Amino acid sequence: HTAPADQAPVTVTVTGASGQIAYGLLFRIAAGDMLGPDAPVRLRLLEIPAAVRAAEGVAMELEDGAFPLLSDVEITDDPTIGFDGASVAMLVGARPRTQGMERGDLLAANGAIFTTQGRAIEAAAADDVKVLVVGNPANTNALIAMNNAPGVPRTRFSALTRLDHNRAIAQLAHRTGEPAASIRRMTVWGNHSATQYPDLSHAFVGNKPAEDAVSDRTWIEDTFIPTVQQRGSAIIEARGSSSAASAASAAIDHVRDWTAGTSDGDWVSMAVCSDGSYGVPEGLISSFPVTCADGEFRIVPNLDIDDFSRARIDLSVAELAQERDAVRALGLV
Ligand code: NAD
Ligand code: LMR
Repeated sequence: HTAPADQAPVTVTVTGASGQIAYGLLFRIAAGDMLGPDAPVRLRLLEIPAAVRAAEGVAMELEDGAFPLLSDVEITDDPTIGFDGASVAMLVGARPRTQGMERGDLLAANGAIFTTQGRAIEAAAADDVKVLVVGNPANTNALIAMNNAPGVPRTRFSALTRLDHNRAIAQLAHRTGEPAASIRRMTVWGNHSATQYPDLSHAFVGNKPAEDAVSDRTWIEDTFIPTVQQRGSAIIEARGSSSAASAASAAIDHVRDWTAGTSDGDWVSMAVCSDGSYGVPEGLISSFPVTCADGEFRIVPNLDIDDFSRARIDLSVAELAQERDAVRALGLV
């Protein structure tokens, strides 16, 4: 290990820093779980003015962690300052749907946030910036940010479907009685929404194809897929608020694997800008199986897609196209 003090800190910007996901996320970043034990980090916390005071409290707690890798914490409500020099930008803050709000109102409110943040990323972030959008609707918010930062390569934008991917692994592990670590090549396609398609047709449990390990088509179609699709709602129902620690953990996994690379023989799910692969219209931010190496992702090529999978992927992608058309009509992309 190089002594942390020998390396320049990596600037990581987290928006929504006073919220519940950030409360899990920031401490894991400071502990080195995301960028590794050799990478000192400088955190920039971006919040809306009304939540800056609460962010100051989170920063006090970060200080109290005495994390050896944490070099600095800065709090701001100005996006251009917030993204200044950022190599990793984690866009967690978003406008939640409140009572009486129509879908169009939600898209417009988030549109204002993600157009501004996309522009600020283009203006201020580091040349090597990687962007992860967590705030919902995550895929379409990422689409808006990407389209408002035309100077930043499209391959630097992503949205979080790793939580769905991890949920799918957990369900399969539970069903087969095998450890989560024995499961490889899980895939989530499409939107981070109830239309997502968790696909175990390419997955393995140990050395066995997952479909053979399960050997029950009914469980896959009637239990596995809906359970993963509805897991976010199930958490909200049980906890009274949406998933937070598991979402933070998935965001750590996403950036860690994007930066450090995926394991040989395995892949992960990331929502990234489609290059037209698997019939997903070019330019949509849709979840794909990807491998990562040298800080870049690559969509896994040449997978066989059967009719069942084709219909499920098309359904979720159609929803993404509808969301894109709605934000296009609002002039946001
Ligand atoms: P939260 O309401 O606890 O926190 C959100 C924070 O964002 C608030 O502190 C708010 O002040 C801040 N914020 C709002 N607008 C902002 C802006 N323009 N700039 C900076 N900060 C801003 O919410 P949470 O539980 O932390 O969840 C955050 C988002 O993540 C939600 O949209 C939630 O639906 C989404 N989510 C996504 C996934 C996923 O897998 N993609 C999973 C869980 C939750
Ligand atoms: C989740 O998947 O847990 C969340 O995206 C649910 C939500 O609607 O916030």
